[in-house]
Amino acid sequence: MDVEKIEEELRKIKDEVLQCQKCVLYQTRILPVIGQGNHQAKIMFVGEAPGASEDKTGRPFCGAAGKILDELLESISIKREEVYICNILKCRPPANRNPKTEEIEACTPYLLRQIEIVKPKAICALGNFSTAFIFEKYGLRDKIEGISKIHGNIFEAKTLFGSLKIIPLYHPAVATYNSNMKEILKKDFRILKNL
Ligand code: URA
Ligand code: SF4
Repeated sequence: MDVEKIEEELRKIKDEVLQCQKCVLYQTRILPVIGQGNHQAKIMFVGEAPGASEDKTGRPFCGAAGKILDELLESISIKREEVYICNILKCRPPANRNPKTEEIEACTPYLLRQIEIVKPKAICALGNFSTAFIFEKYGLRDKIEGISKIHGNIFEAKTLFGSLKIIPLYHPAVATYNSNMKEILKKDFRILKNL
């Protein structure tokens, strides 16, 4: 796909999400958070859902968890503008509750289209919900385990656009009040540098 086509396809997703009423979350969100970053990124980060700051700005990972993510990227000298960042849900769940199965089902066709357009070489799945969804979609269902067991490991998947590395990571939010977790995340992030 050439750059113009990529822009056009991503714009279509944006327009659809802005109008979307496929699950109840559109009723309580302020702004949907579609995705941000390099449209031809080699690495894509998939978080869970917007929080309060993201809901206000429409930008992914712009609050406390985003600060941690920035710090982690900086620790391996990767710029935020080089990667693509999005979530499994585009609208904020009330009081940041967990995503519901029907919401994930309704929303993830957008994410799958984003992945097929950007065609990353690696997807970092942040946290349990994102990991379970990405593993399931890319034929790794039998490898799904809790994030504490599989974080920082590289899994290989085959897709229509070529081979894809899938790397489950702890969600950066777990490190906001826990410096041990931040060190574990930093260690896991070093893998990305070596890809
Ligand atoms: N947590 C997420 O999973 N995604 C965001 O965009 C912000 C916080
Ligand atoms: Fe649509 Fe996804 Fe928002 Fe639900 S969360 S309303 S499916 S964009």
